[in-house]
Amino acid sequence: MEFVVAIDGPAGSGKGTITKLVGERLGFINIDTGAMFRCVTLDIIKKGIKLEEENKIKEMLEKIQIDLKENGEVFLNGEEVSKTIRENEVNNLISQVSMMQIVREKLLELQRKMAQGKNVIMEGRDIGTVVFPNADVKIYLDASPEERAKRRLKQNQEKGISSSYEEVLESIQKRDQKDTTRKIAPLKKAQDAIYIDSSNRTIEEVTKEIIRVIKKKEG
Ligand code: DC
Repeated sequence: MEFVVAIDGPAGSGKGTITKLVGERLGFINIDTGAMFRCVTLDIIKKGIKLEEENKIKEMLEKIQIDLKENGEVFLNGEEVSKTIRENEVNNLISQVSMMQIVREKLLELQRKMAQGKNVIMEGRDIGTVVFPNADVKIYLDASPEERAKRRLKQNQEKGISSSYEEVLESIQKRDQKDTTRKIAPLKKAQDAIYIDSSNRTIEEVTKEIIRVIKKKEG
């Protein structure tokens, strides 16, 4: 049996946390596609490839090994990179990398393979629109830019990263702009996705609502 839950939305909407909780509670495999784009970006950096060098990127993509473990650890070509993929060097390049057609084609293929014959909850930007247009349940999770900036600022403080609210808000707005306006697979709500605004709701409330929707669909 294969049951696919697609969760799309912008950075800071709570997707990551909520997807993990729903997956754990329902026994679904949790797939963080953002981590996959981050791995490709990190591999490009590590190998010193320039974004214009399409042939080298193609070659790299043919060999790339991305492993998303159940405990949330991420392995790139056998090496644990869970923290490295979230560092600034990767953040600064990822929008450009995720615009590349060859990268999206490769990850699309991997994402579809990962779900074959399984119950999965997959989060990203184009899961309900491009990767699984026939997903059993589609959710578009949103929150206001101001609320998302507040959440990101709190996360940064917890990690000991110093940043101001204004800086974080500006960076979120820039990333939204890039993610929603790119030509290939832009971030947008699928027509048949359920829209949930998490701005004034707790993680627990949203998690429970999504579980309710999935259970109803499962019958
Ligand atoms: O979810 P995240 O913040 O880790 O994602 C990082 C970037 O990867 C995001 O800015 C856009 C890109 N991405 C994408 O283009 N498509 C996806 N399905 C997931 C992420």
